[in-house]
Amino acid sequence: MSEMKPKLLIVEDDAGLQAQLKWAYPDFEVVQATDRASAITALRSEEPAVVTLDLGLPPDPDGTSEGFAVLDEIMALKPDTKVIVASGHGARESALTAIAKGAYDFYQKPVDIEALGLIVRRALQLHRIENENRQLASKSGDGNRVLGRLITAAPEMVKVARTIERVANTNVSVMLLGASGTGKELLARGLHEASDRRDGAFVAINCAAIPENLLESELFGHEKGAFTGAVKTTEGKIELANGGTLFLDEVGDIPLPLQVKLLRFLQERVIERIGSRKSIPVDTRIVCATHQDLEAMIAAGSFREDLFYRLAEIVVKIPSLAERPGDAALLAKAFMAKFAKEMNPAVKGFAPDALAAIDAWPWPGNVRELENRVKRAVIMSDSKLVGAADLDLVAQDEEAIQVLNLKCAREATDRKVIRHALARSEGNISNTAKLLGISRPTLYDLLKQYDLHA
Ligand SMILES: Nc1ncnc2c1ncn2[C@@H]1O[C@H](COP(=O)(O)OP(=O)(O)OP(=O)(O)O)[C@@H](O)[C@H]1O
Ligand SMILES: [Mg+2]
Repeated sequence: MSEMKPKLLIVEDDAGLQAQLKWAYPDFEVVQATDRASAITALRSEEPAVVTLDLGLPPDPDGTSEGFAVLDEIMALKPDTKVIVASGHGARESALTAIAKGAYDFYQKPVDIEALGLIVRRALQLHRIENENRQLASKSGDGNRVLGRLITAAPEMVKVARTIERVANTNVSVMLLGASGTGKELLARGLHEASDRRDGAFVAINCAAIPENLLESELFGHEKGAFTGAVKTTEGKIELANGGTLFLDEVGDIPLPLQVKLLRFLQERVIERIGSRKSIPVDTRIVCATHQDLEAMIAAGSFREDLFYRLAEIVVKIPSLAERPGDAALLAKAFMAKFAKEMNPAVKGFAPDALAAIDAWPWPGNVRELENRVKRAVIMSDSKLVGAADLDLVAQDEEAIQVLNLKCAREATDRKVIRHALARSEGNISNTAKLLGISRPTLYDLLKQYDLHA
C-alpha cells in the first residue's frame, strides 16, 4: 500500500495544458478528464485524493456552470476529496463561490506550475492527515465504542456518533430520531457501551410491538395475583435496567395514561409494580427512539409535552441512508463480506453493475433494507459475483433520461405509469383508462405508440 502513488485527477479541457500538467507531478499517479462526465467517471473509479478543476468546461467553456456542477457532484459523492479550482484572471468571485461550495483552494490562470504543485501537495498532505484521523476514530477502542460498530464514512454520521460518545457518560436522556432502519437501536447500544454503565444491562423494549394492555406490566412489572394471569411476581423492564440503560423504542406509541406513569418515574426515579404499593428506587439511563413526529403529536394532544422534555434532553437526528452519500456502497461491501463468509463462501463480491445500482437506489428502508437485500442475494447467488438483478435492484434509468431530452423523459414516464395502471387493473382497458384519467381511444393510441400490450 505504502508504495502506491497518490492519485491526482486533472480536469482540464485544453489539450495543450493537459499535456503540460501531466508531467508536472512525477510523484502522483495522474488521471485526466476533459469534461463533467469523464471527471465523475474518474472520480468513481479512481477515487483521487486531489482534483484540479478548470471551471470553464464544455459545453460552457467560457463560463463556470459546468465546473461548479462537477464540484457539486464531487462534494456530494466524495466530500473528503481536495478540489483545487482554476479561476481565470480576475475571477475572484467564482473562486470564493468554489470555496463556499467546498473546494479546498484555487489557483489563478495562466498556470504557474510550481505554485500549483505546492498547493496540490499541501492538499494531499491534509487529505492524508484527515484520513488517518478518520481511521483512528473508527478503530474500536474504549472511548470509541459507538463508532467501532458503526460502518460509515459519511461526516453526517460521524458527527452523530461523536455526539453520542460525548453524552454517553452523562446521565442526560437521549432521544434518537430517525426513519426505520437508520440504526437507532445500534446507536442506543453504542451509547450504552460507551458509557460507564456498560457493565449493567441494556434493556430494550419496543413500545409499538406490545399490546396496550400489556405494556404497563412490561414496563413496571407486577405482583403475583395483580390481575388474571399474573401467576407470579415479575419485574418490569425498567427495574431490569437498574444500573444499566433502558431503551424505549417507538416511544411515540406509549398511550397517554402510561405516559403519565412514565413521567412520574422520570421525575421521582421510583417505580411501583402493578398490584403493589411498595416504591422501588431504580437507577437507569433512558434512551428512547421514534420515527414519529412527536412535535406534531404534542400539538395534537396525543403526546405529553412534559414527558417529551424529560425524554429529549438531547435530541439526536439520524440521517437517512440517502443523506449519507457513499455509505450505501460501503455498507453493502461490509455486509457482503460478512454474509459471504457466514453463508456462502463461494460468493466473492459484487459485479460492477451492482455497486452502481446500490449507489443509485434511494433506500427507503435504509440500512435494514440494504442488509436484507445483500443477505438474500448472497444466499441465493450461484455465481461468484452478485449483480444488480440478484439484489432485485432494477436499474434506474434516471441518468439516461437526464442526458437525453424532455420528449424521451416523458415517454419513459408514460410507459412506466401506463404499465403500472395496466398491472393494477389486470389488463382491463376500461379500468386502465379510468385509472389514468384518459379515454379508451386515447389509451389505445398510446398502447400502439409505445408498443405495449394489455
Ligand atoms: N451504520 C451502520 N453500520 C453497520 N450496521 C448498521 C448500521 N446502521 C444500521 N445497521 C444495521 O442495520 C440493521 C438495522 O439497524 P437498527 O435496528 O439499529 O435500525 P432502527 O433505526 O432501530 O430500525 P427500525 O426503525 O426498523 O427499528 C441492524 O442489523 C443494524 O445492525
Ligand atoms: Mg429499531
